[in-house]
Amino acid sequence: MLNRSAPRWKARFAAFLFTTAVCSAAAHAQAPEVTDPDARAAAIIDSMTEEERFALLRSFMPLPFGEIPEEVRDQPAMAAYIPPIERLGIPAIRMTDASLGVTNPMQQRKGDVATAMPSGLALAATFNPALAYQAGRTIGVEARAKGFNVLLGGGVNLARDPRNGRNFEYLGEDPLLAGTLAGEAVRGTQAEGVVSTVKHFAVNDQETLRNTANSVIAEPALRMSDLLAFELAIERGQPGSVMCAYNRVNGPWACGSDTLLNQVLKQEWGYKGWVISDWGAVHAADYAAKGLDHQAGAQLDEQVWFDEPLRNLVASGEVSQDRIKDMSRRILRSLYAVGADRPMPPAGIDYDAHGDVALKAAEQGTVVLKNEGLLPIAGQAKKILVVGGYAPLGVMSGGGSSQVTPVGGPAAMVPVGGEGFLEAFGSMLIVPSSPLKALREALPDAQIAFDSGYFPAATAARADDYDLVIVFATQWQIEALDAGSMTLPMGQDRLIEAVAAANPRTAVVLETGNPVRMPWRDKVGAIVEAWYPGQRGGEAIANVLTGAVNPSGHLPISFPVDESQLPRPEIPGLGEPAGTRVDIDYDIEGADVGYRWYAREGLQPAYPFGHGLSYTTFAHEGLEIVPGDTLTARFTVRNTGQRAGADVAQVYLTDAAGKPLRRLAGFARVELAPGEAKQVEVPLEWRVVADWVNGGWQVAPGSYRFMLAENALAEGPAVTLDLQPRRLAP
Ligand code: BGC
Repeated sequence: MLNRSAPRWKARFAAFLFTTAVCSAAAHAQAPEVTDPDARAAAIIDSMTEEERFALLRSFMPLPFGEIPEEVRDQPAMAAYIPPIERLGIPAIRMTDASLGVTNPMQQRKGDVATAMPSGLALAATFNPALAYQAGRTIGVEARAKGFNVLLGGGVNLARDPRNGRNFEYLGEDPLLAGTLAGEAVRGTQAEGVVSTVKHFAVNDQETLRNTANSVIAEPALRMSDLLAFELAIERGQPGSVMCAYNRVNGPWACGSDTLLNQVLKQEWGYKGWVISDWGAVHAADYAAKGLDHQAGAQLDEQVWFDEPLRNLVASGEVSQDRIKDMSRRILRSLYAVGADRPMPPAGIDYDAHGDVALKAAEQGTVVLKNEGLLPIAGQAKKILVVGGYAPLGVMSGGGSSQVTPVGGPAAMVPVGGEGFLEAFGSMLIVPSSPLKALREALPDAQIAFDSGYFPAATAARADDYDLVIVFATQWQIEALDAGSMTLPMGQDRLIEAVAAANPRTAVVLETGNPVRMPWRDKVGAIVEAWYPGQRGGEAIANVLTGAVNPSGHLPISFPVDESQLPRPEIPGLGEPAGTRVDIDYDIEGADVGYRWYAREGLQPAYPFGHGLSYTTFAHEGLEIVPGDTLTARFTVRNTGQRAGADVAQVYLTDAAGKPLRRLAGFARVELAPGEAKQVEVPLEWRVVADWVNGGWQVAPGSYRFMLAENALAEGPAVTLDLQPRRLAP
């Protein structure tokens, strides 16, 4: 796939002006002027020539891969570029990744940085839709200021496998949580006049053989899991674009799936925007008839299908002229719907204010998994040893197309390498926010030493001299490569074991893209999951460890004990050569992804979905469920401890018409002062209560039990009520 035959590139990136002058983010927040986008798009389509319409249907990536047209070669590096049609006032379409901040592919735009948001899993761990909106909006401001009008963010694939190389870009294992947050992030970005995306539609739930694997899953299970996450995200966010996935789904490739694109997305869900292919995911011109509207990164496919080959299909009558109009109309309609066609004068970016958003997301997303009196540190420990994890430099980030070049530039690029995708993207980028430095600043009276942990025996030998040892353990993940196992890489388990054996007052801070095995779980005093915490990640970690911030993050993905608890203990196709066709049997767990699987199988994961400790305690009382067109949970949350903190109240369906199960039906993040109580109302999602039966959402008659629980597998106050049969409106 990677063909380095476009040599003129490098000299040309610098020509593009990316200004970094400081001005207020609020200055960009004025609502775009939008007149009826459907009417506008319909009006312009008829005045376009066929040539002009076709020009919108495929795009190229201004990067040194493959053959690209002259007018694209002159552009700075970005995910894709479509030249303007000046005659009609149609602006250039400039697309950028992504979910975790505006990217700078392979740092080809010299010196251009962006706010690195915490990973998707960190954002999901906040259970905070308002924060997802704010993060999306912040990224939108930066995209716009840098001249991009289409953002390829919004990854909402469900975490069916804790080894998936892209879970860090996504929002966990639960469709309600993931769909809600993805939708809010999209809404935030589009409020800034930048089209956003949800991707990768659908069931692109592992990276191994992602271009040829076939995700096999029966319709009801698909509807109630992966598709539900997309449905909710699309409903809430109204994204201008939906990106179809690399893989096949029940046979056809996702980007050529009439069922997914035409029938489900466009007809049933009434989706009005455009379907864009993933880069290199188009295998035939007739995908246009199957619902694909745009071939992106066209140089990566075997052919530029949406040019000559598609024109031939039009000439032969296989694809109608009306369909070509529909494809281009959808693209323009999405630009108009959010005001992404407005001129984009280069603007400054308030990176400090944006860093505050990243900090808040990292703080709220940090999950304290275990704490036996070691945390918060403040005051107790005078002599602290920090070990490993690049802690003097910064924090880990995830690789691939979502990789952001952070403000301040990378603290380090640690080469890992490989071939193909890994050759181009295979370096760990350490984001310049040092937890060691932040701890030293936060605890000026403590003596804090550092040890790389490179020789575990040497580290262990000095560890018992300290009041507290904090081991930072990292797991880099990158697009296109699954972690073959859940074991921490580079022998870090041995380091933790050795240190904990020498000093049981050991806390482990994980900076991982996924759940990992923790064979040392019972031997350490505290475990904190910080994910990839982004631009101000070091500070966020220090704030949680010291208690300056009371932790409130909760797991958006379960941590199984080990791979034997997974529906597929081995990753299907792992180790097989690229191009191998493998069926992935997702019917094993069906819609019971993550915690639902553990509940069904009676398995006890190390830490279930929803788990997360605080430095205070909460009590829940008076749960009521009020049925109606909207189903609502009402209850009181009380902070019963000594510190201000935020509870994440989780309402689970635990029995549905006689069937025991666990499904998150609603949630709310509630901030409380010590002793304070608040009455909370949480809307519950009918589609979580219902099952997909005979082509629709059906609530079977019977008794339903709802429970407020501290995690997906815990017990808590519950109420049971009888529900009448109900077919949900499509
Ligand atoms: C990824 C997409 C991304 C695209 C453009 C692909 O490799 O799968 O998520 O948007 O590249 O960079």
